Amino acid sequence: MECYTTCDELRAALAQQRARGRTIGLVPTMGALHEGHLSLVDASLRECDHTVVTIFVNPTQFGPQEDYGRYPRTLEEDLAALAARGAHTVFAPSTEEMYRPGHVTFVEMQGVALPLEGQRRPGHFRGVATIVLKLFTLVLPDRAYFGQKDYQQSLVVRRLVADLNLDVQIRLCPIVRDADGLALSSRNRYLSPQERRQALLLHQALQHVASRVAGGERNCQTLLSEIEALFAAAPGVRLDYASIADPETLAPLERIEGPAVCALAAFVGTTRLIDNTLLAPPQARA
Ligand code: PAJ
Repeated sequence: MECYTTCDELRAALAQQRARGRTIGLVPTMGALHEGHLSLVDASLRECDHTVVTIFVNPTQFGPQEDYGRYPRTLEEDLAALAARGAHTVFAPSTEEMYRPGHVTFVEMQGVALPLEGQRRPGHFRGVATIVLKLFTLVLPDRAYFGQKDYQQSLVVRRLVADLNLDVQIRLCPIVRDADGLALSSRNRYLSPQERRQALLLHQALQHVASRVAGGERNCQTLLSEIEALFAAAPGVRLDYASIADPETLAPLERIEGPAVCALAAFVGTTRLIDNTLLAPPQARA
């Protein structure tokens, strides 16, 4: 496995792979890798000849009050995990390498970037879209792998690719969870043992909604009220938002008559976690 820190080195190495006719898979990450990230690496290894993993804690996607400064940075362990998995190339640039002095170009998006995370974290998707576009133009991947864990992010990236005519296939991989249901996240490291137990409510609330929909409930306001009641009754956890929305546009739904996504964000102590599940009503019986 090769690890590069400069754009020039990375470009030169990947040009050689491309010249040999190898397909390139890209897995963008911010490091502090867990099995969720590694499931994306596995998917790329299955589908592409050469897998590139990027590790970069992107400052432009963090708000001023957010956790950029204390975001976990575990490069040595990340490299060991990626080498064990069989990744071919790692790109771990410095902040100065990715944002040279004088950098003033950013990608602004409307539409799917506006609600939910976009509303709660102003500027977040501007930073995400900018860094993802930069990584796409550096790596020129055939396919790029994203997790359903950040469902809205995957829609933002798909929109970016469509709007800017980028020649890359976006693959969405399922959410990897701990045995008890908690979605894996680099931010789970912030949780105390007690908070780790309280954090299970996100998954439990999503399961509750999924079972209510399977049982025939269609009214989104009813379901959202039930989520709010679950959170109101739980100590140590504060719901930031809950939404049941169209899975393509993220427009809020009144009734679940077809595919839908239920997305949650909540604070567990001071740690902000997100989770989601796709919902589909059972086929209407004749
Ligand atoms: P990061 O939070 O490190 O996540 C990198 C990728 O791993 C994302 O596509 C995310 O959805 C996926 N992922 C995280 N947890 C997962 C889980 N439990 N199961 C499956 N996939 C999971 O998302 C980012 O970094 C950044 O915004 C980035 C795209 C790298 C741009 O900076």
